Amino acid sequence: MTGMEQWKGKICLITGASSGIGEETARRLAGHGVRVAIAARRGERLETLKGEIEAQGGEALALTTDLRDEESITAMFAALREQWGAADVLINNAGLGWEGSLIEGKNADWREMLEVNVLALSICMREAIAQMRGKPDARIVNIASSLARRVPAGRGVGFYSATKYAVRALNDGMRDELMIEGSPIKVSLVSPGLTATGFHASFYRDAERAQDAYRKSQPMQPSDVTDAICFVLSAPPHIVFDDLIFRSMGQVY
Ligand SMILES: NC(=O)c1ccc[n+]([C@@H]2O[C@H](COP(=O)([O-])OP(=O)(O)OC[C@H]3O[C@@H](n4cnc5c(N)ncnc54)[C@H](OP(=O)(O)O)[C@@H]3O)[C@@H](O)[C@H]2O)c1
Repeated sequence: MTGMEQWKGKICLITGASSGIGEETARRLAGHGVRVAIAARRGERLETLKGEIEAQGGEALALTTDLRDEESITAMFAALREQWGAADVLINNAGLGWEGSLIEGKNADWREMLEVNVLALSICMREAIAQMRGKPDARIVNIASSLARRVPAGRGVGFYSATKYAVRALNDGMRDELMIEGSPIKVSLVSPGLTATGFHASFYRDAERAQDAYRKSQPMQPSDVTDAICFVLSAPPHIVFDDLIFRSMGQVY
């Protein structure tokens, strides 16, 4: 079976599902009949999304998780296994950025970006793979960024970019390790450009500056990124997408 049909009734764990790209992807996959395990810190938002999915006839499992806390990650995987079983798909989507120069950046901001974007993503890949062993087909989709390949000057994205370069390296390294050992588990990178979500109000610590950025450079919508994730997941079992990089026609940098 190919296309999204192949995931009907299967289990997909989506991190960062309380907002933006993760939330939209959970909604879409549930519409395709995928059982979505949705994780983030804001449990009340997860419960609202779960209610919405269930009202549409879908299945959702809310897993309140702080990805900066290793015990919380372990608990998330344990709860998934106990309540539903092993994940067939992991969408490693949670992530954040804080604006700041490399010359004057703050340790606390750097630490949080590293812990969520890099360390938690690595732990989630490792733990998901441990659960996926023995499955004939399983996938991991890591969300990087168009900034995983370049660092536009003067935008305060230096450290955030560095974490996304790391995501690209981790994605490629894991994909190749699995291919060398003949594992059927496929690992793909999705690298979107500017997308209108909660990301930028947080990045600038200022909602008005986020709106200003969107006025200057027309962003994509979360559903555009979900389209790309579904495209990657729709590949037949003998194909693995390495990296899908895309942005809106209105993005000027
Ligand atoms: N928006 C863009 O322009 C853009 C472009 C390229 C790539 N990306 C990437 O796309 C991914 C999704 O971002 P988005 O744009 O959808 O942003 P968003 O709306 O801000 O969503 C980020 C998600 O990450 C979760 N998260 C952050 N810290 C967490 C933690 N400590 N523990 C658990 N969950 C945590 C948030 O949940 P809680 O706050 O509830 O924990 C939220 O659900 C990120 O990896 C981002 O780097 C975004």
